[in-house]
Amino acid sequence: MDIARTPATPDGNPEMADAAIQPKAPPEIRREDYKPFPWLVPTIRLTFDLALDKTRVTARLEIERNPAAEAERTIRLNGDGLQLESLSCDGNESTDYRMDGDDLLVTLPGERHSLEIVTVIDPSANSQLMGLYASGGMLCTQCEAEGFRRITFFPDRPDVLSTYTVRMSGPKALFPVLLCNGNRTDQGEEGDTHWAKWHDPWPKPSYLFALVAGDLVARSDSFTTINGRKVELNVYVRDGDLGRTEHAMESLKRSMRWDEEVFGREYDLDLFNIVAVSDFNMGAMENKGLNIFNTKYVLADPETATDGDYDGIEGVIGHEYFHNWSGNRVTCRDWFQLSLKEGFTVLRDQLFSAQMGSAPVKRIEDVRVLRGVQFPEDSGPLAHPIRPDSYREISNFYTATVYNKGAEVIRMMRTMAGEEAFRRGTDLYFERHDGEAATCEDFVRAMEDGADLDLAQFRLWYSQAGTPKVAARLTHEGQTATLTLTQTVPATPGQPDKQPMPIPLSLALFDRESGNHAGDELVVLDSETAQFSFDGFATRPVLSINRGFSAPVSIDRDVPRDELVFLAARDDDPFARYEAMQELMTGYLVGSVSGELDDAERDAARGDIAQAMRAVIEDSALDDLMRGELMVMPSQAYIAEQMLIADPGSIHAAREALKADVATRLADPLHALYERAVQVPFALDAEAKGARKVKTLALSYAAAGDPATASGLAAQQYDRADNMTDRQGALMVLAGLDSAERTGRLLDFYNRYQGNALVIDKWFALQASSLHPHAIEHVKSLREHEDFALRNPNRVRSLYMAFASNPGAFHSADGEGYRMLADLILELDPINAQTAARFVPALGRWRRIEEGRAELMREALQRIAEAPKLSRDTYEQVTRSLG
Ligand code: PHE
Ligand code: ZN
Repeated sequence: MDIARTPATPDGNPEMADAAIQPKAPPEIRREDYKPFPWLVPTIRLTFDLALDKTRVTARLEIERNPAAEAERTIRLNGDGLQLESLSCDGNESTDYRMDGDDLLVTLPGERHSLEIVTVIDPSANSQLMGLYASGGMLCTQCEAEGFRRITFFPDRPDVLSTYTVRMSGPKALFPVLLCNGNRTDQGEEGDTHWAKWHDPWPKPSYLFALVAGDLVARSDSFTTINGRKVELNVYVRDGDLGRTEHAMESLKRSMRWDEEVFGREYDLDLFNIVAVSDFNMGAMENKGLNIFNTKYVLADPETATDGDYDGIEGVIGHEYFHNWSGNRVTCRDWFQLSLKEGFTVLRDQLFSAQMGSAPVKRIEDVRVLRGVQFPEDSGPLAHPIRPDSYREISNFYTATVYNKGAEVIRMMRTMAGEEAFRRGTDLYFERHDGEAATCEDFVRAMEDGADLDLAQFRLWYSQAGTPKVAARLTHEGQTATLTLTQTVPATPGQPDKQPMPIPLSLALFDRESGNHAGDELVVLDSETAQFSFDGFATRPVLSINRGFSAPVSIDRDVPRDELVFLAARDDDPFARYEAMQELMTGYLVGSVSGELDDAERDAARGDIAQAMRAVIEDSALDDLMRGELMVMPSQAYIAEQMLIADPGSIHAAREALKADVATRLADPLHALYERAVQVPFALDAEAKGARKVKTLALSYAAAGDPATASGLAAQQYDRADNMTDRQGALMVLAGLDSAERTGRLLDFYNRYQGNALVIDKWFALQASSLHPHAIEHVKSLREHEDFALRNPNRVRSLYMAFASNPGAFHSADGEGYRMLADLILELDPINAQTAARFVPALGRWRRIEEGRAELMREALQRIAEAPKLSRDTYEQVTRSLG
């Protein structure tokens, strides 16, 4: 028998912890190099002998030549830090094989073979949280994108689809619950161990494999599909968490119904399981029939979860469930096609959430995320098209561009086609490609054929990076208003020259006098510049454009401020109304930071903003959820994005000063709003949610205008709170104030929720994102807190993501914030490369920041780049950022 062992490493058991560490300059993988895999693996049988520190995995692969590919005599089985115990081919143990790095190359002389491979892995040493790992005494897997190769040798690519049969066994006491994809076909016990057999009838790529073993309890329910299939549903959590699973279960049932009604998609197994784990790199994972979730997106009750948490759970449960069709039944040919499943599924979850709650508010929230995260990404060193052309580490491409811009691109097709035609397109897509590994091109073609669209030029949205800018100029003569639209698509890394893209813009022209318009028009700007004329206007109309955010572009409309004030009060498109408010404030902030506005102009602008804000606060036709949106100030990131070179210090100061000015001018209406909202009793409906939203907003304005009074009010709100939204909102305001109330409430919060990891995450995040002048010192001491844990991604993010997006602290002029983040990245990289690399973009925007800080940011990146050993993940992000 041939026994091969990967070379032993000197320090104990590091093969998992060190697996992501690679020599420098890992190879670039290119989309144009795609080739079908020479072998098919129609079935795989896996046997797991489970133990926390030593799990033996036996894999039996049935292999045959792929008639659609060039023949090869060897098969490449990917591995990552695996220890090979034995290998046999067709029962013969003297098989011809060799290692190529971490991969196993086996020579296969014939057309069809049966391979048996035994590997041994150590889940407890797996801190990367990819492959099979231990989390709080349970075992679970994460295989997307390339984690299956940390479990066994396999062609770990999404275009190799196999039917999985699994037998798992382990100590009953440690792992009373044994779960896998598909249906359980058998189970039994022998002494202290027990076993279960699972079979998944749907062929799937390895990234959708999942297994869970642990001491879990379930909330169980059922769902009957449109065709009468009864599906058993379970949400598995740790014993003490069962009381916080109702919302997740209800969200799941709503998702299943919605996908039937809106996309005609029915569930296809008798069982659907969700498992919550507290150590997880992302939000959740759509493994076939066995979704694995970050606890953050499962557990909720009013005492510990905010309204935002409730919405997040509903959205992510929907998202993962919808992947059963957009992702699992139709999967991706290769990882360059990631947006095929992610962009489409994000759109599906957005439409779902919009229908479950307030559609206008959901749209505004989605755009805020896009502009706060994706726009900066698209204008920085990490910009890439939604279908990238190359990567070194695919984990780095789970980005706002692939997900959120990807969703916007599909939404534009829906807008141009109309809902019904769009549905014909998605029906055709699912029908044509069911059971296949498809490409973005396949999706576009199905849309062309099914929805009857010509998308020839539209394909540029898949290949060109960068946020298009559209200048809109309206002129008026006689009875005619003429709109001139001009687009520019900025250069991005590797793409210096761009072609004009088709940009669907929904617009309306308002009559100033009556406040009405003649209806929405959809124009498609598909050349660099174009003119559109509209008749029947005796006076110059007011332009409302990109209504509903019909295209993911930035608009420059250069209109007088009074037109924005008009739209902020009158526009009947909720997004456009929000946009007018944002533009009013952004225009003022950019103008005052850049020195374009003199004192008199600034004063006039502040007066207009306060007037518009007052109208919003007092408009009785608005619901509070929407009122809250209209009151939110543009984010620091969004303001910075509007400037070629930004000075984070001045933007932060100007933004806080505007907040204080509004608060001072509107002290009475804000107070009245607060008093009204305080009267609304707790409920989970839109009215009560809206009241909670404006309550904390009013409080945070007050904190800028009159900190002493606000501190007292916030302390009172904190003490009286009967729900987490109010309590967290109050503490957020207090955390930013240098007041006596601050310390006591922070301590109370910690003591009250000690042991509840998700709430303690909030405690870390509130302090790290606070407006307090010493926030940076607070982050330093929280880093040393006994509850801080580098191995838990939620905890690391709660402290450092909050910190990195806190301009007052992170952009400290002496560079201390940048040094702290670089230290974190270097420390975290060997432990959890994927999570470490996600902090790099915060340093990567140095080219768009004033000189002094830019140099300090570059130094921090340089220091990371010079580290003797870096993961592929961090290496790629740092070199692109320096590039
Ligand atoms: N595919 C998951 C989702 O978007 C995200 C994910 C990617 C989770 C990689 C884990 C690892 O639903
Ligand atoms: Zn997804």
